[in-house]
Amino acid sequence: KTATADWLMSQTKHRPQVAIICGSGLGMLADTLKCQDSFAYADIPGFPQSTVQGHAGQLVFGELKGKTCVCMQGRFHMYEGHSLCKTTFPIRVFKLLGVETLIVTNAAGSLADGFQTGDIMIIKDHINFPGLVGLNPLCGPNDDKFGPRFPAMSGCYDKGLRCLAMEIAKELGVASVLQEGVYAMVGGPNFETIAEARLLHRLGVDAVGMSTAPEVVVATHCGLRVFGLSLITNKVVKSYEDTESVNHEGVLEIGRLRSHTVQQLPNSLSYF
Ligand code: 6GU
Repeated sequence: KTATADWLMSQTKHRPQVAIICGSGLGMLADTLKCQDSFAYADIPGFPQSTVQGHAGQLVFGELKGKTCVCMQGRFHMYEGHSLCKTTFPIRVFKLLGVETLIVTNAAGSLADGFQTGDIMIIKDHINFPGLVGLNPLCGPNDDKFGPRFPAMSGCYDKGLRCLAMEIAKELGVASVLQEGVYAMVGGPNFETIAEARLLHRLGVDAVGMSTAPEVVVATHCGLRVFGLSLITNKVVKSYEDTESVNHEGVLEIGRLRSHTVQQLPNSLSYF
């Protein structure tokens, strides 16, 4: 990680305070950065490679509303076969670059009855299903340089940033599509069965996806402030009468349609 961070610092003058992970179909945010320096993952020493379509696979440094940011255009998923250590590798690199705040975005299916496709959910908390059964990026010897052996996860989605995002959404006039709720990470790559969807619903999950929790765990471990957004790209099928089903193209399509609104929040948040 140190070698990767040193290499990046030798290649760009930017010293980011904010890191943003762009989820499925949400990579356009990175294109709006000023004075860009971009690095394909393949060219960064030590960096993992991303394999899913809809995920570009580069790191973009630049200015967003006067704040220096680094964006991941494309993230690493557990279902690609990456170890969680690789999945979360960039987070520790960001820490070494001097980043203080991490903004995570993802595409998710909704279980909450009040949610509509196209809504944006501020992540209030998460349930890390892989983590609960021992698939945790912090497994193995603890690296005390980054954080403690037993880090607390209560309050890992910064309350101040969540409140601020609500305020900003009101000012932007997008409060009607903004929700707040609990995100659950499942391993994927298949979408949920109806029985699984019903289980998640009964457990109090508002949105489900296949990413984010490992990155947030590692970010919280090393003391980064975290803000998370889920774009609701579809409703999860919970009824045997329902004839529709999800597909990846539909997920990406909603991402494209809503990308502008999703971008506005990190955009304004990066002011602070
Ligand atoms: Cl329905 N499930 C999961 N696991 N991830 C998703 C999704 C559903 N929709 C978008 N991402």
